[in-house]
Amino acid sequence: MHKCRVCSNNIEKFMSFGKMPIANAFLKKEEFKDEYFFELAPSFCNKCFTFQIIDQPDPNKMFHENYTFFTRSSKFMVKHFNLFANDIYDRFLKNLNQPMVIEIGSNDGAYLEFFSKKNISHLGIEPSANVAKVAKSYGVNSLVSFMNLETSKKILNKYRKADAITAANVICHIPNINEFAESISNILDDNGVFVFEEPYLGSMIEKNSYDQIYDEHVYIFSALSIQSIFSNFGMELFDLQHQSTHGGSMRYFLCKKGKKIINKSVDNILLKEKEQNLNKDDVFLKFKQNIEKSKIDLKNLLNQIKKNNKLVAGYAATSKSTTILNYCDIDEDLMPCIFDTTPTKINKYSPGKHIPIKDHKYFQEAKLDYAFLFAWNHYEEIKKKEQKFISKNGKWITHVPEIKVY
Ligand code: TYD
Ligand code: ZN
Repeated sequence: MHKCRVCSNNIEKFMSFGKMPIANAFLKKEEFKDEYFFELAPSFCNKCFTFQIIDQPDPNKMFHENYTFFTRSSKFMVKHFNLFANDIYDRFLKNLNQPMVIEIGSNDGAYLEFFSKKNISHLGIEPSANVAKVAKSYGVNSLVSFMNLETSKKILNKYRKADAITAANVICHIPNINEFAESISNILDDNGVFVFEEPYLGSMIEKNSYDQIYDEHVYIFSALSIQSIFSNFGMELFDLQHQSTHGGSMRYFLCKKGKKIINKSVDNILLKEKEQNLNKDDVFLKFKQNIEKSKIDLKNLLNQIKKNNKLVAGYAATSKSTTILNYCDIDEDLMPCIFDTTPTKINKYSPGKHIPIKDHKYFQEAKLDYAFLFAWNHYEEIKKKEQKFISKNGKWITHVPEIKVY
């Protein structure tokens, strides 16, 4: 028995992925012996409707001076964040006198750069010093810290309350979500907005994209869960927008209670979530069955490829790939390497299964028959980039919504 991280209700795991390493802890050979593992087991709280993992490594083990995720590794995402910033500016800030913008999890500054260029007061809160350093080179100010009550006090000592607080793919990383919500409420101006986007529970269930479940994602949110978390801190949803990023995300718009007109999208999406049964345990039992089937199908396919003496490699050493490789027990024998563009991952080994990570510049000359698309969420961008692979009869393998070769 465990306690829900949000409402302290008693909850149980509905399945276990077994022992998992830290998804972004790409390592050198000499580090294999000290590798850290924890049990990855998801659970659903039917009282506050929050999907969560039960155990999580200490956040200091995940977000530190050697964090390997850089937003700027995807051109599409850089464009996406520029549009996001533009929307926030147009809708909420452009008529304000000297607005103040805060981003939680500002990474390499791909989002705040827009405000920095406009000379708008801004602050990024980012626990990983190495990515914050890159942000600085784009003129983006960061405070290297986790966002919590103590940080909110530090911010208020130095800056005024924010007109817009935003975040992307980061709120789901924060174990103590209640303290976080209180901190946001403290630093948000009474007329301000808190807008964030995260991988969406509805899409994960629909696409069977269970690889969204890894150490950093303590939660996979729905509108139902966000509403129950933030309403305890005097905030409410006033708009919702589906996003295509990360294979299906939701953008949540929150304000202090009663401060904004509630858009129809809120009722519409809450209703749809209830129709999808995102407030009931049964959905997760079906989800578990789909995950187990996906594992069997993938293992069969990779074994067949090996038997046929065909060449396969992974495409993009994403965080998500760590869940697939470890849960499906795929090692170098079935997948000899993974190609990736990130300098801090190249020539290291994948967490847990220790598959070599190779520089993407060698992808073409590897003459692969198949590439397993770990970055399935960036398919459109990758398809454009890899015309040569496709024209030479290279085939993609995906696992969403089910194992498929195309
Ligand atoms: P992303 O889906 O954002 O990863 P995560 O699962 O960690 O959220 O993809 C980022 C990773 O994919 C990063 O390691 C770089 C790699 N990548 C490539 O190697 N080539 C590409 O064309 C793209 C888009 C990503
Ligand atoms: Zn709960």
